[in-house]
Amino acid sequence: MTNTTTAVSRRSALALGGSALALGLSGLTAQAQQVVKVGLILPMTGPFASTGRQIEAAAKLYMAQKGASVAGKTLELVVKDDTGTPDVTRRIAQELILNDKVSVIAGFGLTPLAMSTAPIATQAKVPMVVMAAGTSIITDASPFIARTSFTQAQSAATMGNWAAKNGVKKVVSLVSDYAPGHDSEKFFAEAFKADGGEVLQSLRVPLQNPDFAPFLQRVKDAAPDALFVFVPSGVGAVLMKQFIERGLDKSGIRLIGPGDITDDDVLNGFGEAAVGTITAHLYSAAHPSALNKAYVEAFKKANNNMRPNFMSVGGYDGMHLIYEALKKTNGATDGAGLVEAMKGMAWESPRGPISIDAATREIVQNIYIRKVEKVDGELYNVEFATVENVKDPVKAGRK
Ligand code: DHB
Repeated sequence: MTNTTTAVSRRSALALGGSALALGLSGLTAQAQQVVKVGLILPMTGPFASTGRQIEAAAKLYMAQKGASVAGKTLELVVKDDTGTPDVTRRIAQELILNDKVSVIAGFGLTPLAMSTAPIATQAKVPMVVMAAGTSIITDASPFIARTSFTQAQSAATMGNWAAKNGVKKVVSLVSDYAPGHDSEKFFAEAFKADGGEVLQSLRVPLQNPDFAPFLQRVKDAAPDALFVFVPSGVGAVLMKQFIERGLDKSGIRLIGPGDITDDDVLNGFGEAAVGTITAHLYSAAHPSALNKAYVEAFKKANNNMRPNFMSVGGYDGMHLIYEALKKTNGATDGAGLVEAMKGMAWESPRGPISIDAATREIVQNIYIRKVEKVDGELYNVEFATVENVKDPVKAGRK
């Protein structure tokens, strides 16, 4: 009797357990079908943390505005800190793909981080959305890469043309000694010389912990019309401080460059000495469109009054690209299909009109010439000329 009872209860317990298990499994299956994970790998700590902070904030703002539901799926963002170290970026990408089963990897705050991870995207056939890094070669490193940030060459070549046509005859260039610095140096010089300019010296400073002082002394001695500078986002503040300390702001040498140097994340702390700096770049928080005004306001509101910079729009637009690609595939997450859907996409960003070149998966965007001015007591890059639909010069002829 006892045995029977036990047997019965054991059977019902088993049955119950079985159905509970079945329920649990079907629940899990349904969930697995619905959630689409995006792995966002960024430098959240270390010298390039401002890039991580800006892009994470922008990606989260996009999701808060549009909702997490897209094409019948629930989008989930998994944010990881790679500390700006290439080996760590690659390892995190592998883990996200193998363990977390992310459908897209995104972020990539610096060129070496994107380059170390490109082979993983190719092997795993997972789309890789580059939201920050800017060396031209990146989109050629994998057919699964699409870029929503910029290329240094877009801004540097535009600056070279503008400077030569606007009274700048002799320049010294000063760049961080790594790939985007080399691109900046090369594409500025090519464009500047083609329009009659002369580059007196091309100086390179270490990427990590740069001391600009000895280089700035050489610039002062060379007495060019302008100093062309590229340093990555976040490093501009150190350069500007030393530029002023050495009295270069009063020496008549104009400061020019791609807009990384007058990054909106740090610009307002530069003081009066920054006023008049002319740069060519893709985004200014002062871009005078209704969409951008709403973007800046929402971004500041959600982030303790932090001003969005050019990195942030790479994150915001990167999320847009992922959302719209998923809509086009009706929620299908096959990597090749998603990348195909991204090709040729065009939309209005807070920076202005942009598109993803179908042949190269590279961003095409306006590059604005801007001057640092004080507006309502704050320093901004005020746009005063526009070169429309700039392609990466390296890929301009590709179809
Ligand atoms: C890169 C990083 C930056 O912070 C920047 O402003 C431009 C380029 C890069 O490593 O590609």
